[in-house]
Amino acid sequence: MDDVVASAPGRVNLIGEHTDYNDGFVLPTVIPQRTFVAIARRDDTRVRARSETLGAEDGYELGREARTGRWIDYVQGVTRALVRRGHVVRGFDAVITSEVPVGSGLSSSAALEVATMRALRDAFGLALDDLEIARLAQRGENELVGAPVGILDPLACSLGEDGVALFVDTRTLACERIAIPDTIELVVVDSGVAHDHAQGGYRERRAQCEEAARALGVRALRDVGEDDLASLRAPLDRRARHVVTENARVLRAVDALRRGDVHALGALFDASHASMRDDYEVSVPEVDRLVARAKAHPAVLGARLTGGGFGGAIVALARAGHAHDVARAIAVEPGARVLVPKAQN
Ligand code: GLA
Repeated sequence: MDDVVASAPGRVNLIGEHTDYNDGFVLPTVIPQRTFVAIARRDDTRVRARSETLGAEDGYELGREARTGRWIDYVQGVTRALVRRGHVVRGFDAVITSEVPVGSGLSSSAALEVATMRALRDAFGLALDDLEIARLAQRGENELVGAPVGILDPLACSLGEDGVALFVDTRTLACERIAIPDTIELVVVDSGVAHDHAQGGYRERRAQCEEAARALGVRALRDVGEDDLASLRAPLDRRARHVVTENARVLRAVDALRRGDVHALGALFDASHASMRDDYEVSVPEVDRLVARAKAHPAVLGARLTGGGFGGAIVALARAGHAHDVARAIAVEPGARVLVPKAQN
């Protein structure tokens, strides 16, 4: 049988950060960079995977998936989640090529998981829709990789489309597609400071949100308003305030997008960044400097840290026709790398 090739894009979250594991709202879109997975079926139960990007090869036995701390865990998470869900998968050889940078907050892991699921769906004729792919990708990452991430990334990589923002209520998984007006262009610049969500800060923020929800007697922070937070101890009060105000900002951003009010949208980006920096405390100086550079440019309407934080990339909203110029102006910071607009080669 010929190889099956599938791919999935990375994502950039426009707004709605650290809201997904609080049953809240998110608003991502996709980036042009993709991860490609080519799969050839084998006659046994062995999985061999080669990452062209990392120049590394690894493997395991189906049914014996176990955490190694290496990149192969994302593939292992996928096959274990599929099999546990009752899908029949046999051994395969996989070749992975990724354009999505690792550690930039642009979902290189979800792009790999979703691309692998899509390739396995084709290779083994699995009955899987795009929503189920997102759910199983999250399960694999939570259970096998051990990263306590929410549904945002796999949903965006699986259901996202170019030029369209995906508005998701993560409690119900109701999704709505909203066109991004052609009066604006997105600019995404990586700070060069890499994060890892299987580690410390992300896990701690998530635990703090759960503690705050418990203290307030609600299922999730989605269920409270700003006026309900007075009884919380520091820093839970600030963490909860970020989540509550960020949820409200997503709803206002959706409204602004629908009305084509790009100035309102830009102001929401700025407010979101301030909240992530001051209340949620997930920014770093390198990222703050990129945001400051962006905001100093006359064609920029707003800018913010995107993704989980502790490093990663920023997303800026530029007036149409100015994205390249804005990107160049931001990228003068040491370590910075422009990802969107993508360089023509
Ligand atoms: C990471 C996680 C997502 C989400 C974001 C923050 O990207 O994978 O689930 O929590 O951080 O918005």
